[in-house]
Amino acid sequence: MSSTNDRLKSLTTDGRTELLFEQVRAVSRWALPPDDVRLVRLPRVYRPAADSMLLAKSVTAAIDRSDTPAEALELCAGTGYVSLLAARMGAIVTAIDVDRRSVATIRLNARLNRLPVTARRADLRTMQTTRRYDLVFANPPYVPTESATRNSDTGLAWNAGPDGRELLDPICHRAHRLVRPGGTLIIVQSDLSKPEITCRQLRADGFAVTIQESIDVPFGPVLSGRLPYLVEAGLIPPGERTERVSAIVATAPAAQDNSGSSDDCPAVQELNT
Ligand SMILES: C[S@@+](CC[C@H](N)C(=O)[O-])C[C@H]1O[C@@H](n2cnc3c(N)ncnc32)[C@H](O)[C@@H]1O
Repeated sequence: MSSTNDRLKSLTTDGRTELLFEQVRAVSRWALPPDDVRLVRLPRVYRPAADSMLLAKSVTAAIDRSDTPAEALELCAGTGYVSLLAARMGAIVTAIDVDRRSVATIRLNARLNRLPVTARRADLRTMQTTRRYDLVFANPPYVPTESATRNSDTGLAWNAGPDGRELLDPICHRAHRLVRPGGTLIIVQSDLSKPEITCRQLRADGFAVTIQESIDVPFGPVLSGRLPYLVEAGLIPPGERTERVSAIVATAPAAQDNSGSSDDCPAVQELNT
């Protein structure tokens, strides 16, 4: 009988699927539940990192606080790691990502862990949604990027335009259409892409916003490789080598009407191309 690893490898054509059973625990700065989820990762899909763990911590805490199983939406889901943790706690999760490899990875991981996570390929900036969720969460690309390199395959997971807000702004602008009245939105982002703007935009739409937790992360290869731009753009002082990454938690205002909500249609319309 073939081992689990053999069976998973046989699910891909190039045999390069990465098994992350132990690695996820290794990058965690916090104690995760003992039976952590098992992960595979197709090539170039974002490997869960310190920011993923920060998101995981806030999302699991939010689910812990709620009495009823949450209907949840993860934007920019990568491997689906945080979605899987949420589903394991009883949430009914839809996970979206614009990258085909990511969507395939999420489906593999949902099967591997036998958890009800529905993966959809969608661009969060244009996706059509027909319902709102109790809990919406995202660790989107937020790294300021000098030139228009967003279409490059490798930078899709982190490049976010000159000010790092190419995905953050659309999330903020669409938040009231994604989060149910009284529901929760959790966004992880760096101080390089200005959390204060995120907070301001969400408050303007009536959300109650707090920065729940921040961690200082040493610059990795991506940020180290664009130091001249970051300094020139005034995003960091010369000599800075760490970024502060924060989990922003926003509660949607209670609303009078239920517009935008219909359970008769697929919640997220999938991209065809
Ligand atoms: C920093 S990774 C985070 C992955 C995962 N949530 C985690 O924390 O490990 C960002 C993800 O956003 C996805 N992404 C980039 N642009 C997107 C867009 N316009 N719509 C949806 N997802 C997008 C990338 O493919 C990548 O998987």
